[in-house]
Amino acid sequence: MQLFETVRNAASWYRDPYGFLDQRIAVGNYDFRVDLPGSNAAMFVGSPELIDEVIRNRNLVGGEGLRFVQPFTGPRALIVISGAEHQSRRRPIQKVFFQSDDRWMIELTERYFDLVSRDLTANRVFPLVRFYEQVTLHTIIDYVLGVKEHEHAAIFRLLKNWMQSFESPLWLFLKPLQRNFGSLTPWGRFLREREAVWNWIHSHIQNAASDSRSVLARLVADRNAGKLQISDEDLVWQCIELLLFGHDTTACGSAWVVMHLLDNSMSRTKELDSAHYREACIKEALRYTPMVVHVTRQAVADTRIGGETIRKGQKVFPCAYLAHHHRDHYERPDVFDPGRFIAGNPPPRSSYFPFGIGSRICVGMPFALGQMNILLRRTLDLGRLAKASQEQTRAQRKFIIMAPEKGGLVSYESLS
Ligand code: HEM
Repeated sequence: MQLFETVRNAASWYRDPYGFLDQRIAVGNYDFRVDLPGSNAAMFVGSPELIDEVIRNRNLVGGEGLRFVQPFTGPRALIVISGAEHQSRRRPIQKVFFQSDDRWMIELTERYFDLVSRDLTANRVFPLVRFYEQVTLHTIIDYVLGVKEHEHAAIFRLLKNWMQSFESPLWLFLKPLQRNFGSLTPWGRFLREREAVWNWIHSHIQNAASDSRSVLARLVADRNAGKLQISDEDLVWQCIELLLFGHDTTACGSAWVVMHLLDNSMSRTKELDSAHYREACIKEALRYTPMVVHVTRQAVADTRIGGETIRKGQKVFPCAYLAHHHRDHYERPDVFDPGRFIAGNPPPRSSYFPFGIGSRICVGMPFALGQMNILLRRTLDLGRLAKASQEQTRAQRKFIIMAPEKGGLVSYESLS
């Protein structure tokens, strides 16, 4: 009976995470336990008071519960390490991404938007996610590695081959499938493609100083100045982590903003000329459809949350979707309303965390928000936008994030 329940939960959760959570929200259940395979009776938490409790609890640790992403990011990427090691590795990277004036990001995003949009044709339907992915991948390769456009074709090809080798997220969760029986088997192919990407990036460490603005060059400079202890191997993994997390997320997030504006007939309002209003639309889209549905904390010792015992090894999921749709904290949470981020007070941090929360908050957050604002402005400038379908945009799982269904199919009619 227990096994049947676990399998039923898993099927519902993996097929449609928002739908799974909507069922709980409908009955006012924002904090609950669920048996999911590998999660060991995980506790979902959506009430701000309990989320605060989780974040303050020293026995609930980030990184620990995300070991399954290690084959993609390496064993010492920020997302999988914890404690003092995590904070000291994070500092120099955070310094780069949290600088207030990031003209280089703006320049690169504008340049690559121009490049990729040359292939678009007016009145022809295209998937926004795919379009934005091209722009954000070009940008992040240049920004992180300092590699210029004429060399992008090579790393694009290698990354594409690698990503295709793990299109099914099954590999992520089912460890027994991760067996290397040579390159004819899926896992063997995955390792081969990963090695090709790794070697390509490794060969670029020597030339990193050629563009001193790149993240890689700045990390190498910090290392040379004795401010950062990091091996060449970990530098490569660090770059891979930034390349993987730094393009798909922003691309899907930007597509969500446009789809919500179109769903609500808001894509042609005068207010969108203002960067401040566009920012409110972006924040509201990230509230309404948080791409990372929950973050993960794992108990390193028995502890208690909201009166419930959490045993060592069990996971707690501070859940952005539940918090963002909590009726006690948002008026009409199921309505897309950018106005809530303009008037009045911003939501308290534990009711709004599309980029995570606490000491592990997304290191690329300012970069992503800035880039999404540019992508939105440039997209609206293409012409009169329209969705390919009349139906309300639904969400679809894309690897570990939630994306608009079919990549957000739209077209534009040129205004000139
Ligand atoms: C809209 C876009 C993005 C969203 C919604 C997003 C969301 C998140 C979330 C929820 C976390 C997890 C925090 C936790 O575990 O508690 C995270 C971590 C992270 N993100 Fe992002 N992210 C975005 C863009 C980016 C970009 C552009 C980069 C890099 C250029 C990036 C790099 C990272 C890294 C390295 C971490 C791990 C941080 C750590 O553990 O210290 N992300 N992100």
